[in-house]
Amino acid sequence: MSAATAYNQMNPFTPMFGKVPAYMAGRELIIENMVQAFDVAGSNPDLCSIFVGARGTGKTALLTYLGHRAEQMGWVVASATASNGMLDDIEQRVRASSAHLISAASSKKLAGASIASLGGISWENIEPSANWRSRLNLILDQLNEANTGLVISVDEIDPSIPEMVELVTTYQHFVRENRKVALIMAGLPYKVSALLSGKTTSFLRRAARHNLGSIPDYEVKEAFRLTVEDGGKRIDDDALDLAASAIGGFPFMFQLVGYRSWNAARKERIISVEHVRQGSQIAKEEFDSRVLEATYAELSKGDISFLQTMNEEGETSRAEVAERAGKKPAWVSTYKKRLLEAGVIEEPSPGVFEYALPGMGEYLQNRG
Ligand SMILES: Nc1ncnc2c1ncn2[C@@H]1O[C@H](COP(=O)(O)OP(=O)(O)O)[C@@H](O)[C@H]1O
Ligand SMILES: [Mg+2]
Repeated sequence: MSAATAYNQMNPFTPMFGKVPAYMAGRELIIENMVQAFDVAGSNPDLCSIFVGARGTGKTALLTYLGHRAEQMGWVVASATASNGMLDDIEQRVRASSAHLISAASSKKLAGASIASLGGISWENIEPSANWRSRLNLILDQLNEANTGLVISVDEIDPSIPEMVELVTTYQHFVRENRKVALIMAGLPYKVSALLSGKTTSFLRRAARHNLGSIPDYEVKEAFRLTVEDGGKRIDDDALDLAASAIGGFPFMFQLVGYRSWNAARKERIISVEHVRQGSQIAKEEFDSRVLEATYAELSKGDISFLQTMNEEGETSRAEVAERAGKKPAWVSTYKKRLLEAGVIEEPSPGVFEYALPGMGEYLQNRG
């Protein structure tokens, strides 16, 4: 390969929110289970799935990727972000993305059997005044005729949006009626918990909940190496080790470290320890300014006092927070809730906290 070609190689890393990465580190099992659910359909519990994680853990990327896989398997997919107007949005998308299927079914019928049945396969037959549930039911009838089902994908779930709740309750009816409909959703931990604790949406507690926790180093390394090699470079083993330790199992950091290390190597074919050292340095600064700083800016004084009581590494108990802050349990509860909602801390088991974002402890130290 000439130096000129090597120089023009595209950087294969994707340090942008919502971008599907070249390789999904550590999501193999989730993806496998989901694909199996799409394949067999029936009453597989994974057909109602919720992906939970902090900012930058790869929720949007995963939803998008799974949508593509479902589409390849013949499902019709409608994606939306939780908002007012999402129901309308979903309906429009279903109509747009299934138009070809429906017309294919019509022509098949025309060629095969009765012309009369053609009348039932046009969208125009759907009463616009009917409510959302009955309009969707009619669409689902038509999809069923075309031998397919619908995947509804909802990002950034938010239980305070009435249409979000309406979607979930309507979905429950579809399930009862044995419709071929899957619902895949993603959101921050606290929002998911709030949605699940709602009275009308409580059936979601039976949904499959997939926590997008931190990714083990060996999986980070495998995906990192594959991304580099597919992009046309190679990476030294010790450079790979260094990259994994800078990434700390966090997807957004994976992309930042990869992107910057790749650029540090420039025309060279092999990414070395020195390249990764330079790359990680920039990546850390970017993570600080694009994630940690933005997160910090949204916090109140109380939030920050809470966070500053936490151990830099590992877990911190409720009692430690209360004691170090010199506050009552009610104060701890209030701020715990706020910080969970913001996706800044996690509560891996009741009364035990840890930072949800890598480098958060160090960042707070540096801010004093
Ligand atoms: N499993 C993964 N492995 C490597 N990189 C990932 C993975 N999932 C997501 N990413 C990358 O991480 C970043 C954040 O992903 P995104 O889906 O926007 O996160 P979220 O929606 O949870 O905030 C993006 O740059 C994306 O390409
Ligand atoms: Mg997202």
